[in-house]
Amino acid sequence: MGRLDGKVALISGGARGMGAAEALLFAGEGARVAVGDVLDDAARETAEEIGDAAVPLRLDGTREDDWDEAVRRTLEAFGRLDVLVNNAGVGGVARIEKTSLEQYRAITEVNQTGVFLGIRAAIAPMTAAGGGSIVNISSIDGLVGMPRVLPYVASKFAVRGMTKTAAVELADRGIRVNSIHPGHIATPMNNPGGTDEAARRMQEYCERDVPLARIGQPEEIARLALFLASDESSYCTGSEFTADGGLIASVPLPG
Ligand SMILES: NC(=O)c1ccc[n+]([C@@H]2O[C@H](COP(=O)([O-])OP(=O)(O)OC[C@H]3O[C@@H](n4cnc5c(N)ncnc54)[C@H](O)[C@@H]3O)[C@@H](O)[C@H]2O)c1
Repeated sequence: MGRLDGKVALISGGARGMGAAEALLFAGEGARVAVGDVLDDAARETAEEIGDAAVPLRLDGTREDDWDEAVRRTLEAFGRLDVLVNNAGVGGVARIEKTSLEQYRAITEVNQTGVFLGIRAAIAPMTAAGGGSIVNISSIDGLVGMPRVLPYVASKFAVRGMTKTAAVELADRGIRVNSIHPGHIATPMNNPGGTDEAARRMQEYCERDVPLARIGQPEEIARLALFLASDESSYCTGSEFTADGGLIASVPLPG
């Protein structure tokens, strides 16, 4: 028996990285999955890897009409919506004085506004299904600051706040809302060029600064998302779940 038997999940940014790992794992646990992304080919490939239990969707998370259409097509394909993973996200590194308003807006539009629109779009179908689980992918950058990524940090703190507010507001409909706060995970976001040099620098950093001394794998976040998506987390709502190899568990000993 699968841990998500009978459930239908919509995953934003599901084409690659953590989103794809979640789509594959959820389907392996009995869910039917809508893979929403702006990367049409990659979304189709991920859905094809899963087979009949998945559909690829065009979903730009910043667009209201895309969310309406994604929910409509999910219901058309699978008849219900039980799980939403607000996973789509973008990054960008620059000092504050070098960050343009356009860059700030572009990052917060995807990472923050997109999560608001996703939560809002999921309420009606989840209410109709008798409840559901919304999993918002924030970051350790939603718990502590980090230099040179101010718009990203702003957006990920916002995701944490929206999670708690939505959890309280939607509890009486049986909709649970939680946030996941990954540390450094081996996905294209962390190494956009896919170079050995960037991978080597990340490995050195993790060996030095992460207590578990390694980078995380997308499947390790997907397993946490699976727990939150499933009924195993039935008493969890409005909570934040960190998976960072211990990175932000402490501050250095003085001296
Ligand atoms: N990789 C990490 O170290 C790390 C750490 C903490 C949090 N996160 C968060 O995890 C989530 C997944 O990131 P990832 O590491 O798998 O990165 P990724 O770049 O591999 O995947 C992100 C996905 O989101 C999609 N996307 C981007 N803009 C979109 C939009 N407007 N609408 C729909 N989809 C869009 C991309 O096409 C891509 O498929 C993000 O929210 C990210 O901020 C990542």
